[in-house]
Amino acid sequence: MPIPKMSDFDLKGKRVLIREDFNVPLKNGEITSDLRIRAAIPTIKQALKAGGQVILMSHLGRPTEGVYEENFSLAPIARQLSKLLKMEVPLIQHWIDGFDMGDASVVLLENVRFNHGETDNNVELAKKMASLCDIFVMDAFATSHRIESSTHGIIKYAKEACLGPLFFSELEALSKILEKPAHPVVAIVGGSKVSTKLALLDFLVKKVDSLIIGGGIANTFLAAEGYTVGKSLYEPDLIDEAERLTLEAKERGAEIPVPIDVVVAERFAEGTESYVRLVSQIDDNEKIFDIGPDTIKNFVSIIKKAKTILWNGPIGAFEIEEFSKGTQAIAKAIAESKAFKVAGGGDTLAAIEKYRIASKIDYISTGGGAFLAFLEGKKLPVIEALELRNTKNEKVA
Ligand code: 3PG
Repeated sequence: MPIPKMSDFDLKGKRVLIREDFNVPLKNGEITSDLRIRAAIPTIKQALKAGGQVILMSHLGRPTEGVYEENFSLAPIARQLSKLLKMEVPLIQHWIDGFDMGDASVVLLENVRFNHGETDNNVELAKKMASLCDIFVMDAFATSHRIESSTHGIIKYAKEACLGPLFFSELEALSKILEKPAHPVVAIVGGSKVSTKLALLDFLVKKVDSLIIGGGIANTFLAAEGYTVGKSLYEPDLIDEAERLTLEAKERGAEIPVPIDVVVAERFAEGTESYVRLVSQIDDNEKIFDIGPDTIKNFVSIIKKAKTILWNGPIGAFEIEEFSKGTQAIAKAIAESKAFKVAGGGDTLAAIEKYRIASKIDYISTGGGAFLAFLEGKKLPVIEALELRNTKNEKVA
């Protein structure tokens, strides 16, 4: 039986508890990217339109459980929600033992991780959360890899439980990339370490035609080809894995193109002296911070031919102007491509916002860890819990 959708239920007059992921970046109490909040708005509006009394629930950061800490409060999120929904969204401080919604048709519960037991998927806590609503809607795709009371435990105890529209659209877009994508498929994977993305690389190498790698990941592949990478970040222990992945790609007629030239410097700092070097000419005291112009040309020509593009991770240290040309050029090539394009991951979103190309990407996932887990071919625990509930009809009154 398929997992039920929010639209399968009559929400009129019902208490609809929506688990959101409002874990957004903040600087001095100000939201620096509200992408996750904006992504949640259509679901909230749909629930309100259907006559539901909407209760929103999310975590923010990783506070010490059982302790209120102002810098982890959802107050900035309540303000942003009020602005986006054009209605007052009260923040409910103490809610776990029940609360009064007053006249509000939508409220936000204070950070779920202020409750003892949340991250341990405590059953008593999950039961209390479940008792707050008639219908539980899981719409936090970005937290769906976590087994916690508000994401997982609650599914078993809520009177009704379903997936929300945002969650469904994430699954649809990511499945489109994985199942029968139009070829050539090009994945661009940046990041500092092969170790953190090994499972992803391993999965993608079996699917894509070109796997463009960047950042520290590319340094390990360069080392595997016998180049000296100076003082650059790389993982000697993963050289064997890099060789194995390269071979696996070759055997199925795919490629993992490594940089041919790079931008190097001795320090990671604004205004530092930087140089373009062939990968065979990196000095012992230099570090690689970006790809060079010939590599840019090569990567851009690969991206131009793509019919499907997946982007996760910047290609260089783009936060610093001197090292931003690679990521900027890749972002531009992706924006100009006619391929079906999906992007995700925190740093990728920062690059997308910096180069203002969001409107040119077909689907921007709200997920970081969940996006990776899904693309690594892992079953999301939240989906498993909903499927189990559905097959066993595990409702606890
Ligand atoms: C994320 O930002 O990836 C999710 O919100 C999960 O947050 P967490 O890593 O603190 O569980």
